[in-house]
Amino acid sequence: MAANFPTSRLRRLRQHPKIRDLVREHDVHVNDLIAPLFVKQGLTGKKEISSMPGQYQLGLDALAAEIKTIVALKIPAIILFAIPEHKDATGSDAFAEDGIALQAIRLIRKTAPELLIISDICCCEYTDHGHCGVMDEHTGCMDLNNDATLPLLQKQVVAHAKAGSDVMAPSGNIDGMVQAIRSALDDNDFKHIPILSYTAKYASSFYGPFRDAAESAASFGDRRSHQLDVANANEALREAEQDVDEGADMLMVKPAMPYLDVMLRLKQTHPALPLCAYQVSGEYAMLKAASQQGWLDEQACVLESLVSMKRAGANMIITYYAKQVATWLG
Ligand code: PBG
Repeated sequence: MAANFPTSRLRRLRQHPKIRDLVREHDVHVNDLIAPLFVKQGLTGKKEISSMPGQYQLGLDALAAEIKTIVALKIPAIILFAIPEHKDATGSDAFAEDGIALQAIRLIRKTAPELLIISDICCCEYTDHGHCGVMDEHTGCMDLNNDATLPLLQKQVVAHAKAGSDVMAPSGNIDGMVQAIRSALDDNDFKHIPILSYTAKYASSFYGPFRDAAESAASFGDRRSHQLDVANANEALREAEQDVDEGADMLMVKPAMPYLDVMLRLKQTHPALPLCAYQVSGEYAMLKAASQQGWLDEQACVLESLVSMKRAGANMIITYYAKQVATWLG
Protein backbone atom coordinates (compact mmCIF):
# COMPACT_ATOMS: atom_id res chain seq x y z
CA MET A 1 0.00 0.00 0.00
CA ALA A 2 1.37 3.44 -0.93
CA ALA A 3 2.35 5.54 2.06
CA ASN A 4 -0.04 8.33 1.08
CA PHE A 5 -3.09 6.06 0.68
CA PRO A 6 -5.98 6.77 1.35
CA THR A 7 -5.33 10.48 0.59
CA SER A 8 -4.03 9.58 -2.84
CA ARG A 9 -6.35 7.47 -4.99
CA LEU A 10 -5.30 7.20 -8.63
CA ARG A 11 -8.66 5.72 -9.58
CA ARG A 12 -10.29 9.16 -9.04
CA LEU A 13 -9.10 10.21 -12.47
CA ARG A 14 -10.16 6.95 -14.09
CA GLN A 15 -13.71 6.71 -12.83
CA HIS A 16 -15.54 9.14 -15.10
CA PRO A 17 -15.20 8.74 -18.87
CA LYS A 18 -15.10 12.52 -19.36
CA ILE A 19 -12.25 12.85 -16.87
CA ARG A 20 -10.47 10.05 -18.68
CA ASP A 21 -10.85 12.07 -21.88
CA LEU A 22 -9.50 15.23 -20.20
CA VAL A 23 -6.41 13.61 -18.74
CA ARG A 24 -5.52 11.45 -21.74
CA GLU A 25 -1.89 12.09 -22.67
CA HIS A 26 -1.79 10.86 -26.27
CA ASP A 27 -4.17 10.45 -29.15
CA VAL A 28 -4.05 9.09 -32.67
CA HIS A 29 -5.34 11.60 -35.20
CA VAL A 30 -5.89 11.23 -38.93
CA ASN A 31 -3.33 14.04 -39.39
CA ASP A 32 -0.66 11.68 -38.04
CA LEU A 33 -1.11 9.10 -40.76
CA ILE A 34 0.90 8.30 -43.87
CA ALA A 35 -0.45 5.66 -46.24
CA PRO A 36 2.00 3.47 -48.22
CA LEU A 37 1.17 2.84 -51.89
CA PHE A 38 2.55 0.21 -54.28
CA VAL A 39 2.30 1.15 -57.95
CA LYS A 40 3.25 -1.50 -60.49
CA GLN A 41 4.14 -0.90 -64.10
CA GLY A 42 2.18 -2.90 -66.66
CA LEU A 43 -0.53 -3.94 -64.20
CA THR A 44 -4.14 -3.30 -65.14
CA GLY A 45 -6.43 -2.61 -62.20
CA LYS A 46 -5.22 -3.82 -58.83
CA LYS A 47 -3.86 -7.03 -57.39
CA GLU A 48 -4.14 -8.05 -53.75
CA ILE A 49 -0.88 -8.85 -51.95
CA SER A 50 -1.41 -12.34 -50.55
CA SER A 51 0.65 -11.82 -47.39
CA MET A 52 -1.07 -8.46 -46.72
CA PRO A 53 -4.83 -8.97 -47.07
CA GLY A 54 -6.56 -5.68 -47.92
CA GLN A 55 -3.40 -4.19 -49.49
CA TYR A 56 -2.92 -3.98 -53.23
CA GLN A 57 -0.42 -3.40 -55.96
CA LEU A 58 -2.02 -0.76 -58.16
CA GLY A 59 -1.78 -0.32 -61.91
CA LEU A 60 -1.39 3.28 -63.11
CA ASP A 61 -5.01 3.11 -64.30
CA ALA A 62 -6.18 2.38 -60.75
CA LEU A 63 -4.04 5.03 -59.07
CA ALA A 64 -6.23 8.13 -59.43
CA ALA A 65 -9.25 6.44 -57.83
CA GLU A 66 -7.14 5.29 -54.88
CA ILE A 67 -5.71 8.78 -54.43
CA LYS A 68 -9.20 10.27 -54.40
CA THR A 69 -10.25 7.79 -51.69
CA ILE A 70 -7.21 8.73 -49.57
CA VAL A 71 -7.91 12.45 -49.97
CA ALA A 72 -11.59 11.94 -49.13
CA LEU A 73 -10.52 10.21 -45.91
CA LYS A 74 -8.42 13.32 -45.09
CA ILE A 75 -5.18 11.33 -44.88
CA PRO A 76 -2.50 14.00 -45.36
CA ALA A 77 0.29 11.98 -46.98
CA ILE A 78 1.28 8.90 -48.96
CA ILE A 79 4.64 7.18 -49.29
CA LEU A 80 5.20 5.76 -52.73
CA PHE A 81 6.81 2.45 -53.71
CA ALA A 82 7.14 1.86 -57.43
CA ILE A 83 7.65 -1.53 -59.07
CA PRO A 84 9.16 -1.28 -62.55
CA GLU A 85 8.93 -3.79 -65.40
CA HIS A 86 12.51 -3.13 -66.30
CA LYS A 87 15.10 -3.79 -63.60
CA ASP A 88 18.87 -3.46 -64.06
CA ALA A 89 22.08 -3.46 -62.01
CA THR A 90 21.83 0.22 -61.05
CA GLY A 91 18.05 0.54 -60.76
CA SER A 92 17.91 3.20 -63.47
CA ASP A 93 14.12 3.06 -63.70
CA ALA A 94 13.97 4.97 -60.39
CA PHE A 95 14.88 8.16 -62.23
CA ALA A 96 13.90 7.35 -65.85
CA GLU A 97 11.55 9.96 -67.32
CA ASP A 98 9.14 7.27 -68.53
CA GLY A 99 9.77 5.06 -65.48
CA ILE A 100 6.91 4.02 -63.22
CA ALA A 101 8.04 6.11 -60.23
CA LEU A 102 8.02 9.42 -62.08
CA GLN A 103 4.81 8.58 -63.94
CA ALA A 104 3.09 7.77 -60.67
CA ILE A 105 4.32 10.95 -58.94
CA ARG A 106 3.11 13.12 -61.83
CA LEU A 107 -0.29 11.44 -61.82
CA ILE A 108 -0.70 11.80 -58.04
CA ARG A 109 0.40 15.44 -58.19
CA LYS A 110 -2.17 16.13 -60.93
CA THR A 111 -4.97 14.21 -59.17
CA ALA A 112 -4.44 15.71 -55.73
CA PRO A 113 -2.33 18.89 -55.65
CA GLU A 114 -2.71 19.17 -51.86
CA LEU A 115 -1.74 15.59 -50.94
CA LEU A 116 1.79 15.24 -49.57
CA ILE A 117 3.89 12.84 -51.64
CA ILE A 118 6.80 11.17 -49.85
CA SER A 119 9.32 9.34 -52.04
CA ASP A 120 11.00 6.26 -50.62
CA ILE A 121 14.53 6.73 -51.93
CA CYS A 122 16.29 3.39 -52.42
CA CYS A 123 17.45 1.18 -55.24
CA CYS A 124 16.09 -2.20 -54.13
CA GLU A 125 12.75 -2.04 -55.96
CA TYR A 126 14.56 -1.13 -59.17
CA THR A 127 17.65 -3.38 -59.21
CA ASP A 128 17.66 -6.79 -60.86
CA HIS A 129 19.54 -8.27 -57.86
CA GLY A 130 17.15 -6.66 -55.34
CA HIS A 131 19.89 -4.95 -53.32
CA CYS A 132 19.76 -1.33 -52.13
CA GLY A 133 22.60 -0.03 -54.29
CA VAL A 134 25.54 -0.92 -56.50
CA MET A 135 26.88 -4.43 -55.87
CA ASP A 136 30.48 -5.24 -56.68
CA GLU A 137 33.59 -6.93 -55.32
CA HIS A 138 35.35 -3.78 -54.09
CA THR A 139 35.99 -5.47 -50.72
CA GLY A 140 37.09 -8.75 -52.27
CA CYS A 141 33.65 -10.31 -52.08
CA MET A 142 30.25 -9.24 -53.36
CA ASP A 143 29.07 -6.31 -51.26
CA LEU A 144 27.12 -3.10 -51.47
CA ASN A 145 29.40 -0.34 -52.70
CA ASN A 146 28.44 2.54 -50.44
CA ASP A 147 30.01 5.49 -52.23
CA ALA A 148 29.13 4.28 -55.72
CA THR A 149 25.48 4.21 -54.62
CA LEU A 150 25.32 7.87 -53.52
CA PRO A 151 25.18 9.39 -57.04
CA LEU A 152 22.25 7.08 -57.86
CA LEU A 153 20.35 8.36 -54.83
CA GLN A 154 21.17 11.93 -55.89
CA LYS A 155 19.71 11.29 -59.33
CA GLN A 156 16.60 9.78 -57.75
CA VAL A 157 15.84 12.73 -55.48
CA VAL A 158 16.31 15.34 -58.18
CA ALA A 159 14.08 13.42 -60.61
CA HIS A 160 11.41 12.78 -57.96
CA ALA A 161 11.43 16.43 -56.84
CA LYS A 162 11.06 17.61 -60.45
CA ALA A 163 8.11 15.25 -60.93
CA GLY A 164 6.38 16.78 -57.89
CA SER A 165 7.35 14.82 -54.79
CA ASP A 166 7.32 16.85 -51.55
CA VAL A 167 9.52 14.89 -49.12
CA MET A 168 12.53 12.59 -49.67
CA ALA A 169 12.81 9.53 -47.45
CA PRO A 170 16.11 7.70 -48.04
CA SER A 171 15.69 4.13 -46.81
CA GLY A 172 18.87 2.29 -47.75
CA ASN A 173 21.01 2.97 -44.64
CA ILE A 174 23.86 4.00 -46.92
CA ASP A 175 26.52 6.04 -45.06
CA GLY A 176 26.45 9.66 -46.19
CA MET A 177 23.09 9.34 -47.94
CA VAL A 178 21.48 12.30 -46.19
CA GLN A 179 24.36 14.64 -46.98
CA ALA A 180 24.50 13.45 -50.58
CA ILE A 181 20.82 14.00 -51.25
CA ARG A 182 20.75 17.30 -49.33
CA SER A 183 23.48 18.69 -51.56
CA ALA A 184 21.84 17.35 -54.73
CA LEU A 185 18.52 18.93 -53.77
CA ASP A 186 20.19 22.24 -52.84
CA ASP A 187 22.17 22.36 -56.09
CA ASN A 188 18.96 21.91 -58.07
CA ASP A 189 16.75 24.57 -56.51
CA PHE A 190 15.03 22.15 -54.15
CA LYS A 191 16.35 23.73 -50.94
CA HIS A 192 12.83 23.72 -49.53
CA ILE A 193 12.35 19.95 -49.78
CA PRO A 194 12.71 18.19 -46.42
CA ILE A 195 14.46 14.88 -45.75
CA LEU A 196 12.79 12.21 -43.65
CA SER A 197 15.65 9.82 -42.98
CA TYR A 198 15.10 6.14 -42.20
CA THR A 199 17.55 6.70 -39.34
CA ALA A 200 17.01 3.57 -37.29
CA LYS A 201 16.15 1.02 -39.93
CA TYR A 202 16.75 -2.45 -38.58
CA ALA A 203 17.73 -5.58 -40.49
CA SER A 204 14.34 -6.93 -39.51
CA SER A 205 12.48 -10.07 -40.52
CA PHE A 206 9.23 -8.14 -40.27
CA TYR A 207 9.74 -6.81 -43.83
CA GLY A 208 8.89 -10.18 -45.37
CA PRO A 209 5.46 -9.29 -46.79
CA PHE A 210 6.76 -5.95 -48.14
CA ARG A 211 9.31 -7.76 -50.26
CA ASP A 212 6.43 -9.69 -51.88
CA ALA A 213 4.53 -6.43 -52.35
CA ALA A 214 7.44 -4.46 -53.78
CA GLU A 215 9.01 -7.49 -55.49
CA SER A 216 12.29 -6.43 -53.90
CA ALA A 217 13.58 -9.60 -52.21
CA ALA A 218 17.34 -9.91 -52.72
CA SER A 219 18.27 -12.68 -55.14
CA PHE A 220 21.27 -13.54 -52.92
CA GLY A 221 22.64 -12.43 -49.54
CA ASP A 222 20.88 -10.10 -47.14
CA ARG A 223 20.87 -6.47 -45.99
CA ARG A 224 22.81 -6.89 -42.75
CA SER A 225 25.88 -5.02 -44.04
CA HIS A 226 23.89 -1.78 -44.03
CA GLN A 227 20.71 -2.13 -41.93
CA LEU A 228 21.07 -2.00 -38.14
CA ASP A 229 21.61 -5.13 -36.06
CA VAL A 230 18.31 -5.93 -34.33
CA ALA A 231 20.09 -6.34 -30.99
CA ASN A 232 21.51 -2.80 -30.91
CA ALA A 233 20.05 0.43 -29.56
CA ASN A 234 23.08 2.69 -28.98
CA GLU A 235 23.90 2.29 -32.65
CA ALA A 236 20.63 4.04 -33.50
CA LEU A 237 21.74 7.05 -31.47
CA ARG A 238 24.93 7.28 -33.53
CA GLU A 239 22.89 7.02 -36.73
CA ALA A 240 20.67 9.84 -35.50
CA GLU A 241 23.63 12.09 -34.65
CA GLN A 242 25.05 11.57 -38.13
CA ASP A 243 21.72 12.13 -39.86
CA VAL A 244 21.17 15.38 -37.97
CA ASP A 245 24.70 16.56 -38.81
CA GLU A 246 24.10 15.72 -42.46
CA GLY A 247 20.88 17.73 -42.58
CA ALA A 248 18.00 15.37 -41.86
CA ASP A 249 14.81 17.27 -41.00
CA MET A 250 12.91 14.29 -39.58
CA LEU A 251 13.95 10.90 -38.23
CA MET A 252 12.32 7.50 -38.55
CA VAL A 253 12.32 4.26 -36.59
CA LYS A 254 11.42 1.09 -38.44
CA PRO A 255 9.85 -1.37 -37.61
CA ALA A 256 7.71 0.29 -34.95
CA MET A 257 6.25 -1.91 -32.22
CA PRO A 258 9.31 -4.12 -31.64
CA TYR A 259 11.47 -0.93 -31.43
CA LEU A 260 9.49 1.37 -29.13
CA ASP A 261 12.53 1.58 -26.85
CA VAL A 262 14.57 3.00 -29.73
CA MET A 263 11.81 5.48 -30.53
CA LEU A 264 11.74 6.74 -26.97
CA ARG A 265 15.52 7.10 -26.87
CA LEU A 266 15.63 9.01 -30.16
CA LYS A 267 12.91 11.34 -28.90
CA GLN A 268 14.82 11.91 -25.67
CA THR A 269 18.15 12.57 -27.39
CA HIS A 270 16.63 14.64 -30.25
CA PRO A 271 13.48 16.18 -28.79
CA ALA A 272 13.34 18.94 -31.38
CA LEU A 273 13.26 16.61 -34.39
CA PRO A 274 9.94 15.25 -35.61
CA LEU A 275 9.93 11.48 -35.36
CA CYS A 276 8.18 9.03 -37.65
CA ALA A 277 7.25 5.43 -36.79
CA TYR A 278 6.91 2.89 -39.60
CA GLN A 279 4.48 0.12 -38.72
CA VAL A 280 5.85 -2.33 -41.27
CA SER A 281 4.33 -5.03 -43.42
CA GLY A 282 4.95 -7.85 -40.92
CA GLU A 283 3.28 -5.88 -38.13
CA TYR A 284 0.28 -5.32 -40.38
CA ALA A 285 0.20 -8.98 -41.40
CA MET A 286 0.20 -10.14 -37.76
CA LEU A 287 -2.61 -7.82 -36.70
CA LYS A 288 -4.62 -8.59 -39.82
CA ALA A 289 -4.25 -12.36 -39.63
CA ALA A 290 -5.17 -12.57 -35.95
CA SER A 291 -8.14 -10.26 -36.54
CA GLN A 292 -9.35 -12.32 -39.48
CA GLN A 293 -9.23 -15.40 -37.27
CA GLY A 294 -11.38 -13.60 -34.73
CA TRP A 295 -8.57 -13.84 -32.18
CA LEU A 296 -8.09 -10.07 -31.78
CA ASP A 297 -10.45 -7.10 -31.80
CA GLU A 298 -8.92 -5.44 -34.87
CA GLN A 299 -9.94 -1.84 -34.27
CA ALA A 300 -9.01 -1.82 -30.59
CA CYS A 301 -5.68 -3.55 -31.12
CA VAL A 302 -4.64 -1.44 -34.10
CA LEU A 303 -5.47 1.81 -32.30
CA GLU A 304 -3.62 0.55 -29.23
CA SER A 305 -0.58 -0.29 -31.35
CA LEU A 306 -0.59 3.20 -32.87
CA VAL A 307 -1.03 5.07 -29.60
CA SER A 308 1.91 3.10 -28.18
CA MET A 309 4.04 4.74 -30.89
CA LYS A 310 2.72 8.20 -29.99
CA ARG A 311 3.52 7.48 -26.34
CA ALA A 312 7.07 6.49 -27.31
CA GLY A 313 7.51 9.85 -29.04
CA ALA A 314 6.35 9.42 -32.63
CA ASN A 315 4.75 12.46 -34.25
CA MET A 316 3.65 10.63 -37.39
CA ILE A 317 3.06 7.03 -38.39
CA ILE A 318 3.40 5.20 -41.68
CA THR A 319 0.87 2.39 -41.54
CA TYR A 320 -0.91 0.06 -43.96
CA TYR A 321 -3.90 0.56 -41.67
CA ALA A 322 -4.11 4.30 -42.57
CA LYS A 323 -7.36 4.03 -44.54
CA GLN A 324 -9.09 1.80 -41.99
CA VAL A 325 -7.95 4.01 -39.11
CA ALA A 326 -9.15 7.15 -40.90
CA THR A 327 -12.54 5.46 -41.34
CA TRP A 328 -12.70 4.44 -37.68
CA LEU A 329 -11.71 7.92 -36.47
CA GLY A 330 -13.94 9.66 -39.04
C1 PBG B 1 13.36 -0.25 -48.91
C2 PBG B 1 12.20 -0.42 -47.99
C3 PBG B 1 11.79 -1.60 -47.36
C4 PBG B 1 10.66 -1.28 -46.61
C5 PBG B 1 10.41 0.07 -46.81
N1 PBG B 1 11.39 0.60 -47.64
C6 PBG B 1 12.28 -2.98 -47.50
C7 PBG B 1 13.61 -3.40 -47.08
O1 PBG B 1 14.37 -2.70 -46.45
O2 PBG B 1 13.90 -4.53 -47.42
C8 PBG B 1 9.89 -2.26 -45.76
C9 PBG B 1 8.57 -1.80 -45.30
C10 PBG B 1 7.65 -2.85 -44.79
O3 PBG B 1 8.02 -3.98 -44.45
O4 PBG B 1 6.47 -2.51 -44.71
N2 PBG B 1 13.01 0.40 -50.11
